[in-house]
Amino acid sequence: MSEITRFGVSIENKLLEKFDHLISARGYHNRSEAIRDLIRNELVNQQWVDNEAESVGTITIIFDHHVRELTEMLTNVQHQFTHQIIAATHVHLDHDNCLEVIVVKGKTANIRKIADKLISLRGVKHGKLVMTTTGKNV
Ligand code: NI
Repeated sequence: MSEITRFGVSIENKLLEKFDHLISARGYHNRSEAIRDLIRNELVNQQWVDNEAESVGTITIIFDHHVRELTEMLTNVQHQFTHQIIAATHVHLDHDNCLEVIVVKGKTANIRKIADKLISLRGVKHGKLVMTTTGKNV
């Protein structure tokens, strides 16, 4: 573990009260860990502003496999990006609906491009890119 620095923060009482309620509801036992997570989250957000930054994400999509050619299109897009796609899982949710989670690693611009291509396909009911980090810089 790296060296720890303690520092004081000036904050309005009401704002701190709200913060304490929020972090307690989320299960934090102290402010320090909550503040560390907020900082890490901002660092990860900042990383996603840089198109060239190396990052990791998961693309989750829900789709109806009966939609003509959709399954084939989803597969085609994934085959275009074999260097970035490191894992994929398919779950048959019910008679009609499927869920896919695709794990992507690479430049943020490429990850966004893959997510946009998959999510915008006709028949994809919902899709979401979760932008996270390789873990190296946080
Ligand atoms: Ni399925």
